[in-house]
Amino acid sequence: MSEDVLVVHGGTPLRGEIQVRGAKNLVSKAMVAAVLGETASTLYDVPAIRDVEIVTGLLEAHGVRVGTGPEGELVMDPANVTRAAVDEINVHAGSSRIPILLCGPLLHRLGHAFIPDLGGCKIGDRPIDFHIQALREFGAVVDKRPDGLHLSAPQRLRGIKYELDYPSVGSTEQVLLTAVLADGVTELRNAAVEPEIVDLICVLQKMGAIIKVHTDRVIEIQGVEKLSGYSHRPIPDRIEAASWGAAALATHGEIFVRGARQADMMTFLNVYRSVGGAFSVDDSPIGGGIRFWHPGGELQPVALETDVHPGLMTDWQQPLVVALTQARGLSIVHETVYERRFGYTTELRQMGANIQLYSECLGGTPCRWGRRNFLHSAVIAGPSKLHAADLQIPDLRAGFSHLIAALAAEGTSRVYGVDRYISRGYEDFDGKLGALGARTERP
Ligand code: EPZ
Repeated sequence: MSEDVLVVHGGTPLRGEIQVRGAKNLVSKAMVAAVLGETASTLYDVPAIRDVEIVTGLLEAHGVRVGTGPEGELVMDPANVTRAAVDEINVHAGSSRIPILLCGPLLHRLGHAFIPDLGGCKIGDRPIDFHIQALREFGAVVDKRPDGLHLSAPQRLRGIKYELDYPSVGSTEQVLLTAVLADGVTELRNAAVEPEIVDLICVLQKMGAIIKVHTDRVIEIQGVEKLSGYSHRPIPDRIEAASWGAAALATHGEIFVRGARQADMMTFLNVYRSVGGAFSVDDSPIGGGIRFWHPGGELQPVALETDVHPGLMTDWQQPLVVALTQARGLSIVHETVYERRFGYTTELRQMGANIQLYSECLGGTPCRWGRRNFLHSAVIAGPSKLHAADLQIPDLRAGFSHLIAALAAEGTSRVYGVDRYISRGYEDFDGKLGALGARTERP
């Protein structure tokens, strides 16, 4: 078997065009929603990424038939969801965080569920206390055992009034996917309202759910007796689009990201412009997208804080930091969503970047990590000439940032772990790099 490594000969501006498809963080949740339907669901524009394979395996372990339609769309038929094959489910232990979202749908369909140990990127503790608390309030019995969670619903789950301590994306999805078939009304306060969540609400509405999104992060769900399948074209992947935008900036290149949508990326685009990057939006319904480029001259330093939507996404932080190593002056980045999302900067420092981490909140919003000694603020002094290095990727988004740094650096880098991590969320990144003129090899 070949080694999981990409050899990158850096220093060439990336130029050309690539396409982004359905957002990973919607597609995987829409696949889970298909379990709630009484008829088959169809999902278009599904990227060929490992997270989709993982969720496919999980659905199949529960009896969902997953196939593809004539246009390559994913067709999921839940007619035979009659079992929970613990051994087959366990194969997916540690591979993703999506299994936790199957709790509600499986409790409705089977009356019980087994959720193996979760995986996902190691960017913080990532507890699931909100999920478990909410499920218990719905009436589920949740038993935490060494192999995972064993859940049962002695009777039909019933609607709840629940307020999240923090507008967590996964917990909001958990409540949505459980409340739609629960008895009565659910009111969720302090909900996350990311575009992927709004798109999941659209999926559920197509299935027959009744969901109102009020102002001030309040979502009200009227439980219904049954749901049908859906047909849906997901929103484009705004994290992947931003990653390529940052790559254009860091390598002094120009990339047209076909499929990228301005409305979902406003905050990123504001930062991009403040740093000195250029972009133009082509909103043609077919073939539109966003062109990102380095217009020449020096990049400007900025002060940033990540936040829940409509703030700057935490997943945009790492690719942006690579570009900020090329700005003249001091940039400040305060990460408020995850407590350990700067691990990847060790490798960037090894490549010549000047980045210092701090446990204080270096930003206007005091966050949960400030008094707890987590290194969650970064000061980046630039511009730094990046040089090649051997890099071990720690997680998905950090991995793509390492790749950008290797592409921007002088010399030949070896980036380890690309298939394990980057292919979880970036479709055909080898092919896309080739299309953009990157000089890479698989040894
Ligand atoms: C989703 O993770 C995304 N993953 C993440 O993207 C993304 O970074 C994150 O939302 C924030 O936008 C998927 O959609 C699969 P959270 P999720 O619950 O839902 C705390 C990527 O690379 N929290 O919004 O797991 C938690 O510790 C990934 O695509 C609790 O305290 O994130 C964190 O500090 C990485 N208790 C904060 O909330 C809970 O029970 C936000 O987490 C749940 C969460």
